[in-house]
Amino acid sequence: ATASEDKDLVIIGGGVAGYVAAIKAGQEGMKVTCIEKRGTLGGTCLNVGCIPSKSLLNNSHLYHQILHDTKNRGIEVGDVKLNLANFMKAKDTAVTGLTKGVEFLLKKNGVEYLKGEGSFVSENEIKVALNDGGETTVRGKNILIATGSEATPFPGLEIDEKRVVTSTGALSLEKIPESMVVIGGGIIGLEMASVWSRLGTKVTVVEFLGQIGGPGMDNEIAKSAQKLLKKQGIEFKLNTKVVSGDASGEKIKLDVDSAKGGKPESLDAEVVLVAIGRRPYTGNLGLETIGMELDERGRVIIDSEYRTKIPHIRCVGDATFGPMLAHKAEEEAVAVVEYIKKGYGHVNYGCIPSVMYTYPEVAWVGQTEQDLKAQNIPYRVGTFPFSANSRAKTNLDTEGLVKMIADPETDRLLGVHIIGPNAGEMIAEGTLALEYGASTEDIARTCHAHPTLAEAFKEAAMATHAKAIHF
Ligand code: FAD
Ligand code: NAI
Repeated sequence: ATASEDKDLVIIGGGVAGYVAAIKAGQEGMKVTCIEKRGTLGGTCLNVGCIPSKSLLNNSHLYHQILHDTKNRGIEVGDVKLNLANFMKAKDTAVTGLTKGVEFLLKKNGVEYLKGEGSFVSENEIKVALNDGGETTVRGKNILIATGSEATPFPGLEIDEKRVVTSTGALSLEKIPESMVVIGGGIIGLEMASVWSRLGTKVTVVEFLGQIGGPGMDNEIAKSAQKLLKKQGIEFKLNTKVVSGDASGEKIKLDVDSAKGGKPESLDAEVVLVAIGRRPYTGNLGLETIGMELDERGRVIIDSEYRTKIPHIRCVGDATFGPMLAHKAEEEAVAVVEYIKKGYGHVNYGCIPSVMYTYPEVAWVGQTEQDLKAQNIPYRVGTFPFSANSRAKTNLDTEGLVKMIADPETDRLLGVHIIGPNAGEMIAEGTLALEYGASTEDIARTCHAHPTLAEAFKEAAMATHAKAIHF
């Protein structure tokens, strides 16, 4: 290729980070190529992450509710059966619809989509081993690394995605296992534990730390989540580390050690889910060819404008710093294109919501009490329980609470932590308030429709700077 044929932007990876950057750049009138090796667009999130997991969570919740939560509502149901093949088909339909939709959007925005594996030949040149055979090369004035992440393996336990699985295998089991041990009580562990436990599997979650939920969840909320998940039948072993595993027998055997020095124990299970975190994925990318730097955790090192040390090569999403979340990748994708095209962009890292889609959902944004304590920052807390909210009572769905944290002097909102029905939707209001620098009085003086769960949000704000009305 000659210099005149250079693309304005070549993107390696068609996940949320890559495809969103491709669309945005297309909208900005740039000539764009997006390279994806998976065969479908949308990356981890659409293919084996956010979307399929939410399909299984939603439908397993419905099934569980029909089995256990209808009589008191005056609904009598007959023979309820689960058809696992069709249950999985519903998930596949959601995934296919969305990944095809993304392909359409790339076309609509004039993006060239190459199906194949990209690797650096030089600082401006990417070789693509095409999925259909053969090879091509593209040149870019700018290059974006958006290659995402992969599950961190557990040493000594080989993943076969059938008996020893990562989230990918756990999203596609062909039969309901009798027993499952989940290594890691973070978000993946708890979402997948919820799905299979609702379908009838005896699930034990082994977590190294003294609390579930992974990094970032408020201590009080994490305790409450654990209590509610335990009530649903999930067993927890906290402060416990899986030290080794053996999958050679009929059942998989795991040796666990108490992190606090108790006696070693051994657990067995039909299926083991390894959910101990994810790590950046930059394999086969030829980074060494161009002397690209990674940090000790394998993340591509970037500056505040997503530039690597080679300034026209940038990186966003799971392959670099920050929380591994789809909406964080999406924000960065828009911002990086703005930096390239206009020289400015914006992502507020203090204001990225997290949602765990268990039942009830757990959602949060901003600072936790433990963060503030560790920094010696004074704060005030207000809470409101869903048991005092009229809509939650009407829906017979009263577990959980809204917790707000504010600056005691200025009343500025510092964090919101919710466990309860619809927490994942409700956190959008907290995120907006935080982004706009609202005080809890601003929120409390905003009229909320009645009867809605969102009134619990308003009343938590009232409780933070004054008093709630209904509690
Ligand atoms: P990815 O989505 O991983 O995309 C990278 C893409 O690059 C991949 O498709 C890969 O095939 C491709 N690629 C890599 N190397 C090359 C190469 N050399 N050439 C061509 N292509 C290449 N986040 C949320 O916000 N909400 C959720 O509910 C949620 N649920 C999740 C559930 C599970 C089970 C998992 C595993 C993750 C979940 N996540 C969720 C996290 C979310 O999926 C990621 O944060 C998000 O996908 C990151 O986007 P990305 O584009 O950076 O990377
Ligand atoms: P995680 O980092 O959230 O949790 C992993 C847990 O495993 C930690 O609590 C850790 O203490 C524990 N652990 C590590 N080694 C262990 C051992 N040997 N024995 C016992 N416990 C051990 O990682 P997870 O759950 O794998 O998720 C990865 C990423 O995917 C997260 O960063 C998350 O952001 C993203 N994700 C987001 C979702 C959402 O937004 N709803 C859903 C699923 C994933």
